[in-house]
Amino acid sequence: MSEAPIKKRIASHWTRYVPGWDVPTAPLESREFFGQVDTRWLKFEHYLPGIIAEVAGPGKKVLEVGCGLGSASREFARQGSQVVSMDLSFSNVQKTRLGYKASGLRGYCVNGDAEKLPFKEGAFDVVYSYGVLHHTPDTAGAIQELYRVLARGGKSVVMLYKKGASYAYVRLMGLVTRDSSRMSREELISKRYDQTPLSKMYSKAEVRALFRDFDDIRLQVIQYGGVRENPKLVLYYKLITLFPFIENWLGSFLIIKCSKKSGRMRAGE
Ligand SMILES: C[S@@+](CC[C@H](N)C(=O)[O-])C[C@H]1O[C@@H](n2cnc3c(N)ncnc32)[C@H](O)[C@@H]1O
Repeated sequence: MSEAPIKKRIASHWTRYVPGWDVPTAPLESREFFGQVDTRWLKFEHYLPGIIAEVAGPGKKVLEVGCGLGSASREFARQGSQVVSMDLSFSNVQKTRLGYKASGLRGYCVNGDAEKLPFKEGAFDVVYSYGVLHHTPDTAGAIQELYRVLARGGKSVVMLYKKGASYAYVRLMGLVTRDSSRMSREELISKRYDQTPLSKMYSKAEVRALFRDFDDIRLQVIQYGGVRENPKLVLYYKLITLFPFIENWLGSFLIIKCSKKSGRMRAGE
C-alpha cells in the first residue's frame, strides 16, 4: 500500500475514478460531455432528482459535499438553488466548475475537506452529500460539520454504504481468503467491495447514532443500479429489487434524510 497520507490517497483515487469520468465520448468542457455524465447518473440513480426536489427550490442555499463531477449540483442549480459544490479533489472541483459553465448554470466551487468545512455555522439551508462520507477517515466528525453549517430548520440528505448483501459477501470472502485475520473490517471492505483507499459500511442503528443530533431522521434503502452493468450481477439486482422488503434488507445504499432542530439551542451551542 502507498505511504502517501490518507487524504492525499483519497483525493488522487477519486480524481482517477470519480463516477462518470469513464463514460463521455465528447470533449471535456463541452455541454455534451456533462450531458453524457448526467445521463449516466440518471440511468443508475433515477430516484435522485425526486429526492433533490424534496429539499431544493428557488433561492435555497445548498452545499454539496463531495460533488465529484457535479451531476447533483447541476440538478440543484436547475431547480433554482444557489449551490456551493465542494470536493477534496481539486481536479473534480475544476471539472464541476467547467460543468456549470458548459451547461449554462450558476454555481460556486470550492476545494475542501468534509471534516473541516470552510463555512460559517448555519450558512446553508440544505447540505447534500452522496456516497462521500464513508470514504473519509472521520465520518462522525464530518457529520458534525454538516450539522454545524446547516441553518436551524435546514435539511440534509446523505448517502452512506449500508451493511447489506455486499457486506455479507465481503465478510465471507474475508473468511475464505483468511484476510479477516490480517485486516480490519474497513480494510476488508475497501479491498473487496470497491477497491478504494478507504470505504466503510454502516447498519441502520449505527447511522441513527451518527445522526443523533439531527431531527426527523428518515432512512431509505436503495440497491445501487450500477451493478446491472456487470453481467454476473444482473440477476442479483433483479432479485434484490423484486420486493421492497428484500431491497430494504439487502440493499447497498442507505439514504438519510434529516433536519437540524429549529427549536431552542442546547447548552454549549
Ligand atoms: C464516490 S464519489 C461520489 C461523487 C458524487 N457525490 C456522486 O454522487 O457522483 C466520492 C467523492 O467524494 C470526494 N471526497 C472523498 N472524501 C472527501 C472529503 N473528506 N471531503 C470532501 N470530498 C471528499 C471524492 O473526491 C469524490 O469526488
